[in-house]
Amino acid sequence: MSSVAVAVIATLCCAKEKAMTTKTLRDLFIHSLSDIYSAEKQMTKSLPKMARASTNPDLKAAFETHLEETHGQIQRIDQVVEATGVKLKRIKCVAMEGLVEEGQEQIDEIEKGPVLDTALIAAAQKVEHYEIASYGSLIALANQLGETSAVKLLGETLQEEKSTDEKLSLLAEEKVAAEALGK
Ligand SMILES: [Fe+2]
Repeated sequence: MSSVAVAVIATLCCAKEKAMTTKTLRDLFIHSLSDIYSAEKQMTKSLPKMARASTNPDLKAAFETHLEETHGQIQRIDQVVEATGVKLKRIKCVAMEGLVEEGQEQIDEIEKGPVLDTALIAAAQKVEHYEIASYGSLIALANQLGETSAVKLLGETLQEEKSTDEKLSLLAEEKVAAEALGK
């Protein structure tokens, strides 16, 4: 057997072993919470870059505001950890890594201006939708586990993510798209 084949089998076995450590709904809650913690941390590095790349002042402000909110959301996850007594895993959210990478590609490939602003809004909304889905699932899990303070804390973050998504939709519709069309 070639060394490549051995490496592939070893990787698959390892992945299987890792997956097997999540057995209960509580394990799944811990995994999902650790995943979104990583996602939020990645956003604290990505949002300043998106703000710097934006030309529209309202969009720049929206990214800066959401950066502040994201710091608060990380603190809220710390509060959830305290309230539920769980221990977060050191994992990287690969979905967010991909979304951030796509956003960075837009920044590298499109000249600063209304078209890049439009691309940045789309990239940010993909992130928001990922987070909305993640927090929605986490809240459902916390509910099933009877973790009421976690439900409340995660619900506050979910609301912020939804408001950001709506704010971005409005910006796209009312200002940035018009600029991109040269109106
Ligand atoms: Fe967030």
